[in-house]
Amino acid sequence: MKKILKIIFVVLIIGLIVIQFVNRPDKTTSSEVTPAHITKQLNVPADVENILKRSCYDCHSNHTKWPWYSSVAPVSWLVADDVESGRKKMNFSDWTKLSESKREARLNDICEEIKADEMPLPKYLVLHGDAKLSQGDKDILCRWAETELKKLEDANPEK
Ligand code: HEC
Repeated sequence: MKKILKIIFVVLIIGLIVIQFVNRPDKTTSSEVTPAHITKQLNVPADVENILKRSCYDCHSNHTKWPWYSSVAPVSWLVADDVESGRKKMNFSDWTKLSESKREARLNDICEEIKADEMPLPKYLVLHGDAKLSQGDKDILCRWAETELKKLEDANPEK
């Protein structure tokens, strides 16, 4: 019995080592703020940007801070997948690449998602306690998103 456990253990360890070399995710990051960045397009006051930086930028911008465990498969695959889908849905570094109607929809979604505690993703908060939004943070983000949404809608009254 002991021998079988030993074999299983060794196989698991070898498996873990092998997968480190398979499908290594491309962990891109950049501190660059291009003209397409949300802060160049909308009025983003410092208190709002601080919250976005702390709680959203890891998955919704190119300024991702990759933690050490994002280098270790299979966790690396899960983390990279969240970042990829998050950026795809809404990348604050590439804000202008979203169509105008999508930008309006996202501004509208932001408040809904955070009020329902769906964003930041709950699993992210397990290891990023500081990203948890207080009621005050939520109020600041919601007020900001509503104001910016209204500005966009007023600029395009035909829609
Ligand atoms: C750990 C990664 C992660 C973090 C951190 C994160 N998000 Fe997301 N977010 C995602 C992913 C992944 C999706 C795409 C989910 C989907 O399409 O089902 C998403 C989708 C969204 C959407 C679109 C929802 C929809 O389907 O319409 C909004 C809005 C959003 N996030 C806002 C935020 C805000 C605001 C923050 C910070 C307070 C934040 N997210 C933090 C990963 C993250």
